[in-house]
Amino acid sequence: MGKSLSNLNTDYIQNYKKFDKIDNIAFSKELKTELSKKNKRIPSKFKYDLNGSKYFEKITKLKEYYATRTEKKILKQISKEMKNIFDNNLTFLEFGSGATDKIGILINNQVKFFMPLDISYDFLLKSSIKLAKSFPNLIIMPAYGDYINKFKLPNQISKKRIGFFLGSSIGNFYEKKEKIFLQNAKTTLGKNGCLFVGVDLIKNKKIIEKAYNDSKGTTAKFNFNLLSRINKVFKTKLKQKDFKYFSHFNEKNNSVESFLISKKDQKFIIDNKKFFVKKNEKIQTETSKKFTLNSFKILANSAGWKVKKYWTDKNKYYSIFLLEN
Ligand SMILES: C[S@@+](CC[C@H](N)C(=O)[O-])C[C@H]1O[C@@H](n2cnc3c(N)ncnc32)[C@H](O)[C@@H]1O
Repeated sequence: MGKSLSNLNTDYIQNYKKFDKIDNIAFSKELKTELSKKNKRIPSKFKYDLNGSKYFEKITKLKEYYATRTEKKILKQISKEMKNIFDNNLTFLEFGSGATDKIGILINNQVKFFMPLDISYDFLLKSSIKLAKSFPNLIIMPAYGDYINKFKLPNQISKKRIGFFLGSSIGNFYEKKEKIFLQNAKTTLGKNGCLFVGVDLIKNKKIIEKAYNDSKGTTAKFNFNLLSRINKVFKTKLKQKDFKYFSHFNEKNNSVESFLISKKDQKFIIDNKKFFVKKNEKIQTETSKKFTLNSFKILANSAGWKVKKYWTDKNKYYSIFLLEN
């Protein structure tokens, strides 16, 4: 694995290999808790096994999904300003790095180390190998885990650490856990750390809803993949045909809420615990909160970050914030 690539350092991911098992234990524990609630839900992080990551990549290329292409445009603008903002000898750390396409826009000779961190183990390795080939002078150290946690970083990386949290993932936490993420990222990145955050802005409801209800049904398949993953891990026999996908923008909390709705009464067992889902009962599979420039600034400040700068596209669909300690 990556042995021929001298710039790919897999020591760190090997240390985290034990999470592979812990992953399924965490999956079982969280599923049991979340499915026991009155309003059943599954955290969106569980959508990302290898198949889920591949579906997400397809979503990023859909015409309805404005977020990726808009964020990339803004990153191109930022890439022109990197030398004015930062000195040399940087370490980039990307939380939820996915395909790592976006970070490639910003990598230049100021950047010495890159640590992609993701929960989708196989996809993380594949993406890291691809990136190592494209940037032979960059030392890539993939890390595996849940980005809500604090991480102890390896000693050999440079002290100036720039974090990235792109893809509007800041909107995907239930119960306002985005503040905990921002606080922990601050600790992980350390003194003088900075963090770029991709923030999807509140806009016309129709534009938002189309992005989660694409004409090819790719987002629906991404959500149905959760059923396949549950079947694979827990040997359940949940069927896609017994659920329908539904997603809408809830203007009360400025969040897109996505669900799998059961078409019939059904039961299943997860690790010896029985669950009943009634006909028309909803299982929430995603929340995707949208912000105003001001509401994100308030959130960042509440977690101890200061806004250094922000960029938006001309339609004000999307923004990228640069936060500093
Ligand atoms: C919305 S995608 C964004 C991917 C990429 N950053 C982009 O902007 O296109 C979310 C990424 O974060 C990862 N992810 C989701 N929840 C996570 C968690 N709790 N901890 C670590 N990675 C997570 C997923 O595997 C996926 O690669």
